[in-house]
Amino acid sequence: MEGTPKRARWYQSSVASSLRVLVTGGAGYIGSHTARLLAEEGFSPFVLDDLGRGHREAARFGQLIVGDVGDAALVARVVRDHRIEAAVHFAAFAYVGESVRDPGLYWTNNTVKSLALVDALVGAGVRDVVFSSTCATYGDPRSLPLREDHPQAPVNAYGASKLAVEHILRSYGVAHGLRWMALRYFNAAGAHPDGTMGERHDPETHLVPLAIEAALGRARPLEIFGTDYDTPDGTALRDYVHVLDLADAHVRALRHLAQGGASGALNLGTGRGHSVREIVSAVEGVVGKPVPHTFGPRRAGDPPALVADPTNARTTLGWTPQYTDLRAIIETAARWHRRGA
Ligand SMILES: NC(=O)c1ccc[n+]([C@@H]2O[C@H](COP(=O)([O-])OP(=O)(O)OC[C@H]3O[C@@H](n4cnc5c(N)ncnc54)[C@H](O)[C@@H]3O)[C@@H](O)[C@H]2O)c1
Repeated sequence: MEGTPKRARWYQSSVASSLRVLVTGGAGYIGSHTARLLAEEGFSPFVLDDLGRGHREAARFGQLIVGDVGDAALVARVVRDHRIEAAVHFAAFAYVGESVRDPGLYWTNNTVKSLALVDALVGAGVRDVVFSSTCATYGDPRSLPLREDHPQAPVNAYGASKLAVEHILRSYGVAHGLRWMALRYFNAAGAHPDGTMGERHDPETHLVPLAIEAALGRARPLEIFGTDYDTPDGTALRDYVHVLDLADAHVRALRHLAQGGASGALNLGTGRGHSVREIVSAVEGVVGKPVPHTFGPRRAGDPPALVADPTNARTTLGWTPQYTDLRAIIETAARWHRRGA
């Protein structure tokens, strides 16, 4: 931080590492890996999750408080009782298809409840919030790779419900001094390399777990949507970023804010796109079995390619993904699935 004397910087950095952090959605996939990393890095995580779509056993890093993020009185009490100093807000619904069928669910759970949460946090004196945003806030890319200044024009209620929260954070920053970071993840993938925790959604809609489960004979054949995209092999390209790299970015974002860094939005992706066919063949290589699959038409609202420009996350947070090899990402996921996830 420019202009900060050395001693003050050391002091701030050690204070940042011992923060008491509220982790909403910490019983879910990315939240549980982040709570674990926070605990390993010397922070004190407190998980707030209603367990509606999460798993009690995943929330084993820091105290679990079972409750709704939209319950402002509960949030205020948790902040007071546990002397919470910062929040990482993962709790949300995250199925694009469901958001198209039932947008009210998404506006309520993702936007209205986030507003209640942010308001309660600010009211209780919490100033630093790191928020799970998404590349779905961009909509159909006009140029690739996607930079943070690409227009945000979401094409489904999920993306729109998340974009609205970015606006809430920005306006609370202006009005109330909230310091915030919106981390726009691309496709989260992989699992903790020790094999004890990983991705578990019900229903599962993500490609990597679906392909692995199909290869293991525990799910129906993988359906590949669209083979006529303008991409090298005709299937859609996505940017797969490892869950531990995402967790690391959150730790860095908390330190950045605690040290007085600027608020803003950052892309989290590797900068490389992989096609559906590439994922299938990588899964086959790792699992050692074919992935039974069928081909279907394109799904409405699925862009041909979504690839991040992660330059700003590197320059702002010093973040560089450690998992750059697709096979290595899939190996961690396969280890988790083989255990019977
Ligand atoms: N998985 C991805 O590829 C991806 C990509 C971009 C953004 N995101 C965002 O990252 C976040 C985490 O995603 P994930 O894949 O870990 O999801 P997840 O479903 O595994 O975890 C979400 C958790 O939030 C909890 N939750 C939901 N609504 C709640 C509420 N009102 N009160 C309390 N708890 C509530 C659920 O019980 C669950 O444990 C979400 O905000 C999602 O939109 C995920």
